[in-house]
Amino acid sequence: MDLASNLGGKIEKAEVLSAVEKYEKYHVCYGGQEEERKANYTDMVNKYYDLVTSFYEFGWGESFHFAPRWKGESLRESIKRHEHFLALQLGLKPGEKVLDVGCGIGGPLREISRFSSTSVTGLNNNEYQITRGKELNRIAGVDKTCNFVKADFMKCHSQTIVLMQCMQLKLPAMHRCLWML
Ligand SMILES: C[S@@+](CC[C@H](N)C(=O)[O-])C[C@H]1O[C@@H](n2cnc3c(N)ncnc32)[C@H](O)[C@@H]1O
Repeated sequence: MDLASNLGGKIEKAEVLSAVEKYEKYHVCYGGQEEERKANYTDMVNKYYDLVTSFYEFGWGESFHFAPRWKGESLRESIKRHEHFLALQLGLKPGEKVLDVGCGIGGPLREISRFSSTSVTGLNNNEYQITRGKELNRIAGVDKTCNFVKADFMKCHSQTIVLMQCMQLKLPAMHRCLWML
């Protein structure tokens, strides 16, 4: 865990236990009620990602999704291959603007942007992940073509509404929308 915490994280070491307890209390096995959980989903989801993000990054990498993996292929290779596959399936064209809904710390969006020469905006409701994602964009040298916006996709019922929200948030109109949760 010390290695993971070197990556930085939202929650101070001394506060991790109480954050875990608060997160657990949302769940039935710890006495949580469904209505309270639904009413507080933002806090519950953010607590989860504040707790796990550094550890995910340490153990999983910058992309928090699974991918089919060939025999002999490394985890990293399989994840990149899947991201390239998605970009090809979407038929992304150089210069297009893409929205990645629920983007984590931006591993997929950086890879897809570089692979397809597109500009990708990540939509996420977790402040820490956005801060970390911006830093990783800078390190990767893609901060001119990749960025983030903080918003709640639960308030967006369709792709059209997501795209409209982008306009309200003064983001450039998006050509494509990528949901990879
Ligand atoms: C499993 S992670 C996947 C991250 C990313 N797609 C990847 O593959 O690396 C799910 C992401 O969705 C975000 N998320 C969850 N609920 C959200 C909401 N209501 N609005 C916006 N983002 C949300 C989380 O903060 C997290 O970044």
